[in-house]
Amino acid sequence: MAKQAPTPKSLSLQLIRTITLALIVTLILGGVLIYWHAVQRIEAEMRAAIVVGSRIAHNALDDVDEISATRRRLELTVADFDDDRHLRASLRDPDNVVIRQSILQPPSAAVPEWLYELLAGKPKVVRLELPDAFHKFGTVVLETDSHNEVAEVWSDAKLYLLILTAFCGVVLLILWVALGRALRPLNDLTGAFAEIGAGRYDRRVDIGGPRELVELGSGFNAMSERLSEMEHRNRRLREQLETVQEEERAELARALHDEMSPLLLSVDVDATALRQQEETSRDPDVEKRAAAILDAVLKMKRNVKGILGQLRPSGLHALGLANSIENLVAFWKKRHPDIAFSVNVPPRSFGVRMDAAIQNIVREGIANAIRHASPRGIDISIDIESGNLLSVEIIDDGIGLAPTLTSGYGIIGMQERAALLGGTLEVIDRKDEHGVRVKAILPLDGAEYLSDSKSMEAGTSV
Ligand SMILES: Nc1ncnc2c1ncn2[C@@H]1O[C@H](COP(=O)(O)OP(=O)(O)OP(=O)(O)O)[C@@H](O)[C@H]1O
Ligand SMILES: [Mg+2]
Repeated sequence: MAKQAPTPKSLSLQLIRTITLALIVTLILGGVLIYWHAVQRIEAEMRAAIVVGSRIAHNALDDVDEISATRRRLELTVADFDDDRHLRASLRDPDNVVIRQSILQPPSAAVPEWLYELLAGKPKVVRLELPDAFHKFGTVVLETDSHNEVAEVWSDAKLYLLILTAFCGVVLLILWVALGRALRPLNDLTGAFAEIGAGRYDRRVDIGGPRELVELGSGFNAMSERLSEMEHRNRRLREQLETVQEEERAELARALHDEMSPLLLSVDVDATALRQQEETSRDPDVEKRAAAILDAVLKMKRNVKGILGQLRPSGLHALGLANSIENLVAFWKKRHPDIAFSVNVPPRSFGVRMDAAIQNIVREGIANAIRHASPRGIDISIDIESGNLLSVEIIDDGIGLAPTLTSGYGIIGMQERAALLGGTLEVIDRKDEHGVRVKAILPLDGAEYLSDSKSMEAGTSV
């Protein structure tokens, strides 16, 4: 089984996704850099703290000769480190038992323990080398504690990450809006191409946006203009073709009517005269021949009339639209008395070309219903709709359209006739019940209608 190709993602979505990925990578890299910088900073701070602390303690305890209360001096030196941010000093007796310990300044903000583990290195411990006079009381030990520094670094890192995230968010937002704006003409173009595909060549697009889209829009408009022109030219050519055909048929009809009919009439008259003469001379053979000639002439007259009817579409000029449709219906009624026909056609003309097109559409519509759908009823109606439009409908209650239509020329022909008059025609399944609805919408061309009405009044029948 053929695999269905996945629906491609939209261009803006693809761009946004790629840029989001790039921003996430930037965020991760930023995070790593912030981490590395924080570790370095904590390490440097702790190293500096222990160096400075050692120097302070040494300075306080170095001039041993001037110290009278040695132990007291040791305790005071340790107390000097109270409220230090990074160092904890402790006085330990010779057995390393803590006698007194300085109190560290509490961190400005709580730091999660995992973060502390992650950032703080091992505490640095320095046991001070004190003059001998202090040995019996113990010694001073300085130890770094990076909680304060980690808290500081953490609040800085949070700020950096917040700024970085906000930056990424703003970039994405701006990108989303900018892309939406820039690509809007592309969406218009997509819709416009679909309309062109459906045959609406008068579609144009607004030209705007980036240069590439401006060029694309101009190209599209030039293409649709060209297509409109070609369609217009095609229509004119088809109209001319139809007119030429009509004229040729009319010429033929006139020739048949004007040249054949008098000849047939004269043969008819002569044969009648011959038969009458024969009645006096009583020659049965001549009488038989005269009767045969008269019979042949009658047939020829019928044939000529039939051909004339073919050449002048069903004697439309003579009968009028409503009558010729009634004739059409009568023709089918005679052959299918079981089908109920309903006809709603106004007793007027809509112009020669329009009347001819309507009649042909109705003829094919009825023929299709009877040939393909076995209907019990066929409704034919012609109505003037709002907006100067004429609606022609042939509705049957037959079996409806097959899922796949076999291609014939009837529907195409009907659609071409409608298109020639600037209208449309659709053949669709009925929504209310079984059957098919053929619906043509034809614009009423006032000028043609008027001129044709006049010519109708003048009478131009053959
Ligand atoms: N009223 C209808 N009910 C059911 N099917 C229809 C009806 N009208 C048309 N069809 C379907 O549409 C197809 C195409 O119709 P179309 O008139 O174009 O060709 P056709 O009637 O088969 O041949 P032709 O060229 O002689 O007219 C038909 O073969 C038929 O299957
Ligand atoms: Mg047909």
